[in-house]
Amino acid sequence: MSYQGVLDRYGPLLDIPAHTKPVTLLEGNTPLIAMPGLADELGGDFELYVKFEGMNPTGSFKDRGMTVAISEAYGGGSQAVICASTGNTAASAAAYAARAGLRAIVLIPQGKVAAGKLAGAIAYGAEVIQIDGSFDDALSMVVEISQRQPIALVNSLNPYRLEGQKTAAFEICDVLGQAPDWLCLPVGNAGNITAYWMGFRQYEQTRSTGLPHILGVQAAGSAPLVLGRPVDHPETVATAIRIGRPARGEQALQAAEESHGRIIAVSDEQILAMQKRLAAHGVWVEPASAAGLAGLAHELQQGTFKITPGQRIVAVCTGHGLKDPDIITRSMAAPRVLPAKVDVLEAVLAGK
Ligand code: F0G
Repeated sequence: MSYQGVLDRYGPLLDIPAHTKPVTLLEGNTPLIAMPGLADELGGDFELYVKFEGMNPTGSFKDRGMTVAISEAYGGGSQAVICASTGNTAASAAAYAARAGLRAIVLIPQGKVAAGKLAGAIAYGAEVIQIDGSFDDALSMVVEISQRQPIALVNSLNPYRLEGQKTAAFEICDVLGQAPDWLCLPVGNAGNITAYWMGFRQYEQTRSTGLPHILGVQAAGSAPLVLGRPVDHPETVATAIRIGRPARGEQALQAAEESHGRIIAVSDEQILAMQKRLAAHGVWVEPASAAGLAGLAHELQQGTFKITPGQRIVAVCTGHGLKDPDIITRSMAAPRVLPAKVDVLEAVLAGK
C-alpha cells in the first residue's frame, strides 16, 4: 500500500495508548536532500544533507508530533485541543483538529507570528487568540487552562508530540542506513531536539544504527540554554524560536551533553545569511530553519568543529520559506514593471 503517514509507518515503535485513533494528513517521509555545493562553500570535506521538514502537509515538522497528539486526544474522547505557539504549532494543531472534527484554540504572541502561519491557523478554522505577551506567557496560560478544563494540551509538553517527532530520526537512519555523525537543528521550546535524541537512541538500542553528536542552535537574542538562565524579553528575526523559557530545556541540555554535542547561539545576521545561501542552492526555508546550518557554518569558521573526511552531517530545516514571505519581500524593491511587449523584454534582457 502507498505511504499512509507516520503512525502507519512507525506506530509500533511509538509509546502511545491503545485508544489512539489515527488522524493523518500523510505527514512525514520528507526528503533528505544532498547539499554538495553548500558543503563545498562551507569548506568541509563532508557529506551534507538537509532534512526538509518544510515539506510536511502544513509546512513544518510539527505535523509529525501533531498527528500523534491529535490521534491520542481524538481516540481518548477529547472534544477540544489548545496550544501556545510561535505559529507553526498553531497551524498544525488547527489542521489536525479540523481533520478530526475537534475544536482548536491557539494562543499566539501578538504581532510576532509570521504571515503564512497565522493564515494557516485561520484557514484551518482554529480559534486564534493573540496574547499581549510572549510565547512563554501564552504557554503558561494554556498549561493552566488545560488543567482546569477538559481541553487537551498539544504543545510538546504532551509526550505524544515527542513520540511522533522521533520518527524524523528514524527516517534519517532508514535512508542513510545509520545515524549521521552530526545532527544540526534549531532549538526553541526544545521539544524537537529532545525527540530526535530519543529517536536516535531507540534505533541504536534496537538496530545498532549509531548515535550522532547533536548541535542545537538558538538565536542570540533568545538563547536561554546558552546563557544558562531564562530570557524575559526574547527577541529574534527568527520568530519561530523567539522563546525565553524552553519547556524542555533540561532535556535539550542533556541531549547535547550525552551526544557529546553542544548548544550554541548565532546572530540574526548569521541566520538570514544562511537562509539566503540555502535558497541559492534551491532550498527556501523560514529563518529559524536556517539556524542549524548557520550554527554549523559558525563552528566550522571558528575551527572548533572536528570533522573527519567523509563524515555525514544532517541539518534539519524545520519549516518552509513560504511560512514567512515578508522577511524576504520587505527588504527588497518591488520587481520592475514592463509594458507587455516582447521587443521591450528582449531589449531589457540584452541590457539595453
Ligand atoms: N523551527 C521552527 C520552524 C519552529 O516553528 C520551531 C518551534 C522550532 C524550530 C523549534 O522547535 O520548539 O521543538 O525547539 N516552534 C514552536 C511553535 C514553538 O509554536 O510553532 P522546538
